[in-house]
Amino acid sequence: MARFQAPKGVSEYVPARSTYFDYVRGTIIESARVAGYQLMELPIFEDTELFSRGVGESTDVVQKEMYTFEDRGGRSITLRPEGTAGVMRAVIEHNLDRGQLPVKVYYSGAFFRAERPQAGRFRQFYQVGIEAIGLADPRIDVEVIAVADRAFKELGLTKYRLEITSLGDALTRQNYLVELRKYIATIPLDAETAARAELNPLRLFDDKREEVRSMMQSAPVLMDYLTGESTEDFRRVQELLNLLGINFVINNRMVRGLDYYTGTAFEFVHSDLGAQSGIGGGGRYDGLMAQLGGQELSGIGFGLGVDRILMACEAEGISLPEGFGLDLFIVPLGTGDAALKIAENLRERGIHVDLAFGDKALKGGMKSADRSGATYSIVIGADELDSGIVALKEMKTGESTSVTLSALAQELIERISNFGEHS
Ligand code: HAM
Repeated sequence: MARFQAPKGVSEYVPARSTYFDYVRGTIIESARVAGYQLMELPIFEDTELFSRGVGESTDVVQKEMYTFEDRGGRSITLRPEGTAGVMRAVIEHNLDRGQLPVKVYYSGAFFRAERPQAGRFRQFYQVGIEAIGLADPRIDVEVIAVADRAFKELGLTKYRLEITSLGDALTRQNYLVELRKYIATIPLDAETAARAELNPLRLFDDKREEVRSMMQSAPVLMDYLTGESTEDFRRVQELLNLLGINFVINNRMVRGLDYYTGTAFEFVHSDLGAQSGIGGGGRYDGLMAQLGGQELSGIGFGLGVDRILMACEAEGISLPEGFGLDLFIVPLGTGDAALKIAENLRERGIHVDLAFGDKALKGGMKSADRSGATYSIVIGADELDSGIVALKEMKTGESTSVTLSALAQELIERISNFGEHS
């Protein structure tokens, strides 16, 4: 019978790579949690209009990339292409904006964009994102950036750079767009591109075609139109990034693919990933909440692409830290019940344990131990049960130490250097 295959362009993770994925995603989430961000678990589908209004009609995401369908009740539903609009919807719906500000949340899950699949570009992909809503202060801009930067450093990534820009406030953009429109009126564009430019002239900076790119080279740059206040905010962001020792470069031609951005905007770019080098991006969004029917509250956040960050870790040759996977593999020799009981006792103490099932001979059992990737192994036969002493073998070196069964848990806890972090 014909076998099924996953739909084209989706990313999926199965063992053993899924453990690595879990580690990468967990590290990002932990970086958000240590900074006080709390989980927001939201639906994967929403009203289509939430995205067309929130993300913006002129964007590729809304124009070409949404998975939109009618549900059985005739409502137009869209699989979430990004997380920020949904978070705003939930903040408004649950009146979180009426409580203590800023509201600081993180989310993690699958997102959907009907893009042309290629290396690092998927139709279903994974993001961890954070949003800090209700405070317009460069300090929180930098806190948000620092959450991402800490996660990358924690993972051991080095070949990435942070690019920042300011998209200014409403007045900045009003002044700038007048000049940009004037410039665009002087260049020849086909009807479709002209219509896009009409909706949002900034989108032309995003155009991948060489002729459009070269024409936009001499277009006016938004950074030159920043108001006094926006200039000061941007200066403060840079000052604070320096204070925290976070390296950055200014990219005054950055165009984010979503329409809601204002003020600080940023992207993290990895140098080993080829065309899909953006491992994360975000920025401030002044008007989004009001646009979705809420109060006039500003916010800032990011979305990090977990799939690409995983690829970046692999490209940099970063291996899974010891202690993230299994700590111990038990090989029972005719002692299955006792071994299961020992495994359970160790698991209760937070030690990651697996064991061989079935009546495997010593050789087969040791093969399983090898394959499990566990840091240590023990063999438990009748002798070990009688004497209460096992040989704790370190798999990497082959070195064995005699340990009593009653002291085994303590011995392992002491040996696992980052114990606690992984449990
Ligand atoms: P974004 O720049 O559209 O921003 O996406 C963030 C990250 O998601 C990208 O940098 C990339 O790593 C990853 N990503 C996007 N599309 C794909 C894809 N097709 N395949 C693989 N990875 C992808 C947002 O989504 C905003 N909601 C971020 C944000 C939060 N801004 C403010 N708050």
